[in-house]
Amino acid sequence: MALTLNDKYIKDFVNEEEFKAIQSEISAAHKTLLDGSGEGSDFLGWIDLPKNYDKEEFARIKVAAEKIKKSCDVFVVIGIGGSYLGARAVIEFLKSPMYNNLKKDTPDIYFSGCNISAGALSELLEICEGKDVCINVISKSGTTTEPAVAFRVFRAMLEKKYGVEGARERIFVTTDKARGTLKQFSDEAGYETFVVPDDVGGRFSVLTAVGLLPIAVAGIDIDGLMKGAADAADAYKATDKIEESDCMKYVAYRNLMYRGGKSCEILVNYEPYAAMLNEWWKQLYGESEGKDKKGLFPASVIFSTDLHSLGQFVQDGSRNLFETVVSVKACDKSFPIPFDEANVDGLNFLAGVELDEVNKTAMRGTILAHIDGGTPNMLIEIDDRSAYSVGQLLYFFEFACGVSGYVLGVNPFNQPGVEAYKKNMFALLGKPGYESQKAELEARLK
Ligand code: PA5
Repeated sequence: MALTLNDKYIKDFVNEEEFKAIQSEISAAHKTLLDGSGEGSDFLGWIDLPKNYDKEEFARIKVAAEKIKKSCDVFVVIGIGGSYLGARAVIEFLKSPMYNNLKKDTPDIYFSGCNISAGALSELLEICEGKDVCINVISKSGTTTEPAVAFRVFRAMLEKKYGVEGARERIFVTTDKARGTLKQFSDEAGYETFVVPDDVGGRFSVLTAVGLLPIAVAGIDIDGLMKGAADAADAYKATDKIEESDCMKYVAYRNLMYRGGKSCEILVNYEPYAAMLNEWWKQLYGESEGKDKKGLFPASVIFSTDLHSLGQFVQDGSRNLFETVVSVKACDKSFPIPFDEANVDGLNFLAGVELDEVNKTAMRGTILAHIDGGTPNMLIEIDDRSAYSVGQLLYFFEFACGVSGYVLGVNPFNQPGVEAYKKNMFALLGKPGYESQKAELEARLK
């Protein structure tokens, strides 16, 4: 495996008997997930996805990605939540958060429809001026407000610029295979469509066309990504034993932490390229476990940046935290610290030392400081910054999430809480059918 979990910095925080005792719960949850006997079992398609995917569509994704690469300077990915976070996480992790500013032979990629900001939409339209543009609208339901608004705007922009026929060649739609207005509209308009499988929820969809098309446009090896995930699937499905599976070990510790009063898990990275991976992870765990008044609050930091902002709290604030650190063992960039004659900063003792070694030393020192302060740490290491390793990491978190949700006693595959804000927003905006709620909500806002 390209992924290992080191529990050296957390095991002293856990009672040995409790650690042994949770095995039976994990075995039961592992079985429930794999035999599909739990709540939400209509949404288990992601489990076998790394092997059991639509090969014809996978080939079509590659062809479409090449077409997009050739025909545009700017590729706009329109989607929200599970319909954009996975793609953005993988692109930033494997390319760069500064991908758009680097020299490359692939288009700039921007994400839209993931907020309701007039400023963000206007700025992106301005960026697109004078450039060739393609778009990929991604929405399983096809009716989510944020991407629907952005799609209206970009479709109109493309039709004005290229005409209806020209725009047709530049609009790619990823949605439900049969149901829904977006599918019907796309078929009528003649757009190329890709499928969000019925049995895969948004936050588990990164290894479908939802994630794969944008990831392929960025020039990332999607075969490697799938292979990494497939190897992880084989390993994690094969055993429910905590001592044999790092994935089940992660489930055990995070549930024991929760029971011991740690209500917040912080995902920690030491690389800015992992910031969106953190966001993907937060959605995965937040939407899967945060229900029925239960669940760990998933938070994230990028160190050492945030050691200068949140570090004080993690070291010394409320003791309801534990950290899961994700680290890439091999650094793909050599950057020795330069010698400086003046040595004003007194750092010449580090001259010639690789910057990554300083970063890893900061990580080791911080882990020790935080456990001394009462914040347990787990360390997940992947071998390198490759599509294969990232595929394993994605699957590790997905599989752990499914099992962990059942250990917690929730349905990990629904998200009823997401609807509450939508109902209020639509009522306040005067959507037909919401008249009585509108008056009631307006009275409360007075
Ligand atoms: O994980 C989920 O199910 C959600 O985050 C959805 O992906 C998000 O709400 C977008 O939904 P849709 O793809 O239907 O536009």
